[in-house]
Amino acid sequence: MSTLIDFHSHIQFSAYDNDREAVILRAREAKVKMIAVGTQAQTSEDAIRVAEQYPNDVLGASVGFHPGHASENSYHDKNELREEAQESFDIERLRELAKHPKVLAIGECGLDYYRDQRLEISERQKKVFVQQIELARELQKPLIIHCRSAFGDLINILNSKSHILNSPAGVIHFFSGTKDDAKNLLDLKFYLGFGGVITFAREYNEVIRYAPLDRILLETDAPYVAPAPHRGKRNEPAYVVEVAKKLAELKGISPETIAEQTTQNAISFFGLSVE
Ligand code: NI
Repeated sequence: MSTLIDFHSHIQFSAYDNDREAVILRAREAKVKMIAVGTQAQTSEDAIRVAEQYPNDVLGASVGFHPGHASENSYHDKNELREEAQESFDIERLRELAKHPKVLAIGECGLDYYRDQRLEISERQKKVFVQQIELARELQKPLIIHCRSAFGDLINILNSKSHILNSPAGVIHFFSGTKDDAKNLLDLKFYLGFGGVITFAREYNEVIRYAPLDRILLETDAPYVAPAPHRGKRNEPAYVVEVAKKLAELKGISPETIAEQTTQNAISFFGLSVE
């Protein structure tokens, strides 16, 4: 299979502090390149640093503030944070980070009502999200969006901001919406990201068959949600190969064609200059 690009990994997380080099070497052997995606200021800074450190493997960074961190009960994943510090959103700090030449996108940002349905939390998430949409416009970068159990509000916000969305506007990482949600988002010039979950859950099959191949990006979301046959283990970018194979099966297209097309998608989406 030719080169694959895992557009959404968290290779900078502390989950890889003991063996990051080995994980990146395994990706290289599998012909997988990756983008490092931040989830708050510290992990965004770390994403830039890892992109500087491994420029041939980590093609760039994304910086942003994950909606999970806009909640009061902000779940602090042990894989993610070095320190158990509550962090409030700081648009100035994010803007400074986003101007770094390694930064390709803004995110992950978005809405997540899965863990906390309180109105005050959703209102705070919306405010933080809109500021990041505006930053993406200002810096002419695509958005990497996280959305869970909140597609109605997500699409409403994006529609109300459609006059300031870029082209491409961004990608919905780990897309878990309906076919109608997909249609609305494709109309707004978004791409759809699919990861390991599609290898073991059937509820994504219909929307994957529906989504045009030139608007799909592949991801792992490593260290989370490893694909079959690695399910339950720590995920890593090399495993994006399994996602490509499953996509090929669902689309009835050869894995090679999937690899070529999705890599071309990532290159044009992020404005990359790789072979
Ligand atoms: Ni993620």
